[in-house]
Amino acid sequence: MFWHTNEPHGLPRDPFKSCVIPRPIGWISTISPDGVPNLAPYSFFNGVAGDPPMVMFSSGARSADAPKDSIFNAEQTGEFVCSMVSLDLIDAMNDTSAAYGPEIDEAAHAGIEMEASELVKPMRVKASPIHLECKYYQTMELPVDRNGSGNAICVGHVVGVHVRDEVMKDGFIDVLKFRPTARLGYMDYTSVDRTFTLNRPEIKPAAE
Ligand SMILES: Cc1cc2nc3c(=O)[nH]c(=O)nc-3n(C[C@H](O)[C@H](O)[C@H](O)COP(=O)(O)O)c2cc1C
Repeated sequence: MFWHTNEPHGLPRDPFKSCVIPRPIGWISTISPDGVPNLAPYSFFNGVAGDPPMVMFSSGARSADAPKDSIFNAEQTGEFVCSMVSLDLIDAMNDTSAAYGPEIDEAAHAGIEMEASELVKPMRVKASPIHLECKYYQTMELPVDRNGSGNAICVGHVVGVHVRDEVMKDGFIDVLKFRPTARLGYMDYTSVDRTFTLNRPEIKPAAE
């Protein structure tokens, strides 16, 4: 099938979000300008550069004139933390995705234990195996949606990384102990339970 994205696709649900998968989940913690902690998951999330290490999460808006809390807080206070979601944390992560207002601390509300970060004020999810402490870098505004609400990409510079000792093996991160969990389309998820290695090709002479 083929469809123009500005025309009806005729399917029960828009399949676009099932085409670019799996998407890792950044569990973003911030602090509001009033000092209220905030925690929410974002799967339009990824590392976007290695040196210096940079990450991004992309946010829809709450409504045409109200941004979601995570991007607002990151822009206003200049800091955020990405806690990575392992399989055992999937329900806790999901609990924090409800559309609470900025006055609600989702972690406290869901009974999720947080611990202090090293370099930034937002705390990190204690049970998460990996945390990226970030300084806000820049926002890229994206086109508005059909309802006139904006989308925007929030980019951060990773200034500190925590990896729990239990997911390290011989100096490498052991993915099968980490069990990173990622978003598929619809309401589906996956978690890495198998890996393989593929080396880069040598430069070969062109075939005659
Ligand atoms: C697994 C998962 C991934 C999500 N990814 C995104 C995303 O990439 N962008 C977005 O705007 N909302 C996303 N959401 C919805 C937000 O988590 C939700 O709107 C939340 O209330 C935002 O909270 P905040 O206003 O405290 O930032 C996701 C929800 C779930 C459960």
